[in-house]
Amino acid sequence: MRMKSNFLWGGATAANQFEGAWNEGGKGPSTADMFTGGTHTIPRRITRTLEENTHYPSHEAIDFYHHYKEDIRLFSDMGFKTFRLSIAWSRIFPNGDELKPNEEGLKFYDKVFDELLKYNIEPLVTISHYETPFALTEKYKGWSNRKLIEFYTRYCSVIFNRYKDRVKYWLTFNEINCLTVPFGAYMAGGMILDENENNEEIRFQALHHQFVASAKAVKLGHEINPKFKIGCMIAYMCSYPKTCNPNDVILAQQKDQINNMICSDVQVRGYYPGFAFRYFEDNGIKIKMEKEDEDILKEGCVDFYSFSYYMSNVVSSDKNGEEVSGNVLGGFKNPYLKASDWGWQIDPKGLRWTLNHIYDRYQIPVMVVENGLGAVDKLDSDGSINDDYRIDYLRDHIKEMEEAVKDGVELMGYTMWGCIDLVSASTGEMKKRYGFIYVDKDNEGNGSLKRIPKKSFKWYKKVIESNGEDLN
Ligand code: BG6
Repeated sequence: MRMKSNFLWGGATAANQFEGAWNEGGKGPSTADMFTGGTHTIPRRITRTLEENTHYPSHEAIDFYHHYKEDIRLFSDMGFKTFRLSIAWSRIFPNGDELKPNEEGLKFYDKVFDELLKYNIEPLVTISHYETPFALTEKYKGWSNRKLIEFYTRYCSVIFNRYKDRVKYWLTFNEINCLTVPFGAYMAGGMILDENENNEEIRFQALHHQFVASAKAVKLGHEINPKFKIGCMIAYMCSYPKTCNPNDVILAQQKDQINNMICSDVQVRGYYPGFAFRYFEDNGIKIKMEKEDEDILKEGCVDFYSFSYYMSNVVSSDKNGEEVSGNVLGGFKNPYLKASDWGWQIDPKGLRWTLNHIYDRYQIPVMVVENGLGAVDKLDSDGSINDDYRIDYLRDHIKEMEEAVKDGVELMGYTMWGCIDLVSASTGEMKKRYGFIYVDKDNEGNGSLKRIPKKSFKWYKKVIESNGEDLN
């Protein structure tokens, strides 16, 4: 047997991408609710007030809010051991800075967790997944403001206490390292920055606030229930040097340090690594840290390391070359790899490399909480969806993940991203589908919302049943 008998097979989602009901049950708008739809070529726009006749994909998304029973039953049919979802912060605190939570919002997650537990599916909860209450953006300038630490920890205290006997696994911030790249300012930091501001300095300041908030949450969570397992969540940006030119090798190492390891070093080890201070100094970045922060970071180290992995990148000291897109960060074209319909370079072996790389460094349990293929799915004339390309992608990645386990990596579980079709975070499209379950809805928001299991549904069921042995 390759995988542990309690290996957590399952799927992953985020509230703003699948829940819908954006203003029901007392929920306030989140940053995601002010983000328009886009496409592969037309970028999404942030609108400070809602525009008429504009499509906001998060508002209905795939309406899990009203379909949760049906969806959870389908997850159970596949044999899910775990289901990763996020709590929409603005369902619990509509403006983010209230003193008292919104009971109706809490009741919704009572129902969801009870439903999951009815089928013995372990909830894995992301506390903040690109859905900061929008009022915090406007009133406090998002995570650039230290006040958000207080609001976030109040929110954590409410959900930890409420769900302490039903949720054991928590992730403090989705892809926290997104703040190391410009794309992350609004998505991860809830900040709308002016062109003349020092974007990078503000992002790293916001990141520091999230580190402190995450550490406080870990400490608090362990006090509320010592059995809690609380993890960090990193968008792992696996960057290969383009050549064996030492300049390329150093560049790849620096990317790894500044885009990935800076975050997990702080969250796993409890202190900033030396290269972070060097980077701040070289780039004229000044971070305000309070005296108590050092102790807070030390006392709030995470229990496990989780990450998303979709693809790998190539970096080069030579600026000429064909560029390609990617999750969070793009890079240069890798001639040895094929790319997805959205240009992300498919690299299963990169997952094995990444798992080994992470485990070698931290020696704590690791979990793959996002991996999958965004593709265009077509209904055949008999209504079926034969997504063999998705099965191939997942099979190849799971194989490499199992190789990493043979290499000695302590792997807790695997949750495939977008196990049910949902709104794409980067483009706002429905057309970029990841799911085992098709949802009848298009980019413009039309469709019956009907759920249809794809061919990969049965395939994944077999994978789980055989604990990863049967990948055919
Ligand atoms: C991760 C995010 O970056 O990638 C998810 O955590 C996101 O929210 C996923 O959906 C896939 O990216 P995209 O842009 O294809 O939706």
